[in-house]
Amino acid sequence: MNSKNLTPKASLKSIASYIPEKILSNKDFEQFIDTSDEWIVRRTGIKERRIAKDDETNSDLGTKAAIKAIQRAHLTPKDIDAIVVATLSPDYFTMPSTACKIAANLGLTNITAFDISAACSGFIYLLEVSKALVESGAKKNVLIVGSEKASSIMDYTDRSICILFGDGAGAGVVSLDTQNPIIDVHTASNGEFGELLMTKRSPKAKLCEPLAMKMKGNEVFKIAVNTLCNDVIELLNKNNIDSNQIDLFIPHQANLRIIKAVQEKLQLSDEKCVITVEKFGNTSAASIPMAMNEAYEEGRLKKGSLILLDAFGGGFTWGSALLQFGGENFTRF
Ligand code: ACO
Repeated sequence: MNSKNLTPKASLKSIASYIPEKILSNKDFEQFIDTSDEWIVRRTGIKERRIAKDDETNSDLGTKAAIKAIQRAHLTPKDIDAIVVATLSPDYFTMPSTACKIAANLGLTNITAFDISAACSGFIYLLEVSKALVESGAKKNVLIVGSEKASSIMDYTDRSICILFGDGAGAGVVSLDTQNPIIDVHTASNGEFGELLMTKRSPKAKLCEPLAMKMKGNEVFKIAVNTLCNDVIELLNKNNIDSNQIDLFIPHQANLRIIKAVQEKLQLSDEKCVITVEKFGNTSAASIPMAMNEAYEEGRLKKGSLILLDAFGGGFTWGSALLQFGGENFTRF
């Protein structure tokens, strides 16, 4: 694929992640809820997930990923002129935004910063928003962060959901370049299904205390598989790209069975599919950038790699993205 553009386009110039140290394994869950390692692995593919410390906030996780992403783009924080964060587990309910907290942590006190709420599809939405910001000329270097402290909105007595989620953050910088563009992004939503996956507020509470996340998993599962299979095929067809041209498929990591269904539909080999759900679980808006970073640090994601992303989440929201990675190849130093 010829990646040279005469007109500069938005390009993802770096990727990085922060992974909390503490591991919560399936065996750990066996100690306090009625579940088993066997059930969780068979139904979801998840073996363990990471949990942030009590005093570690969502913005702390996001800041650590952001610092690395800015360095990897060969920039300093002062080169960043907008920060957009996708999260469903912000530090504060309504305000201040997690983006404002991350901006302050980076020493940026006069900058555009805002959060978006698109649940597990957050990183796809971030790509669309950042692409528009830089291609319109409104901003030069947009820091995008998917960051989750999902453990902070989880009911650890509800076995139908608590075994699925983990904490972590991923970040990248989007800037204009003449090579390796974000080729196309498709995002969508259907609020009629909102009640199948939601974080309610208590109807009685005067204070805005959210309740724990709830999901009708089986119903979400069926819609997610069908929607994602159609969405990725439409995006490839629209851009006249055959699935065998894709170097890496990096899907949202909710459930191994969902990932495999889309992988099969695209007829992609295991080598082309990035899977991290077994070790991180579902980290919602952080899952795609965390998976990208794993592929990057393993040397699988390289400068110019043609990658396909897809995600589905609460809202319902969903989307897919096609891009060539614009960052330098990973070097350990
Ligand atoms: N351990 C053991 N048994 C369990 C557990 C558990 N942790 N959880 C549920 N079960 C039981 C149920 O009670 C049920 O028992 P029953 O048959 O006696 O009633 C049985 O297992 C089957 O339950 P299902 O919910 O039908 O299980 P399913 O195979 O659908 O798997 C899962 C559940 C893993 C949640 C799956 O439905 C799923 O992955 N859904 C999609 C998740 C997703 O993609 N969400 C979108 C992104 S998330 C976001 O945006 C925040």
